[in-house]
Amino acid sequence: MEEYSDKVMDHFAHPRNTGVIENPSGEATVGNPTCGDLMTFYIDVDDNDVIRDVKFKTFGCGAAIATSSMITEIAVGKTVDEAYKITRKDVAYDLDGLPKIKMHCSNLASDALRAAIDDYRAKKAKKEENA
Ligand code: FES
Repeated sequence: MEEYSDKVMDHFAHPRNTGVIENPSGEATVGNPTCGDLMTFYIDVDDNDVIRDVKFKTFGCGAAIATSSMITEIAVGKTVDEAYKITRKDVAYDLDGLPKIKMHCSNLASDALRAAIDDYRAKKAKKEENA
């Protein structure tokens, strides 16, 4: 597949869940050293470890925007453990495919989501330590 699917174009043109969550349960910024693109993910998690909301900000290419948008839709309603397992292949599949040379862009989205979950887990562990 070397062209963008309609779904990729739709998520690129109308990205879902862009923005910032104030006082998020977890947040993280990751960058792709090859292209220099940057992605920040924010998650809001309830007491049962279920992701209530995800938002992202990106300074990245169209595929990075589309994959971020897609992964936010996949992640909402999942537990953090389930969301941690979302792979770039899952994202590409839900987008009806991505050109091969753009697959690395979907790494950025899943890496950023995982890093935000890591941040959430670290904060939660600290809270429990101090409880
Ligand atoms: Fe950098 Fe796509 S080219 S994330």
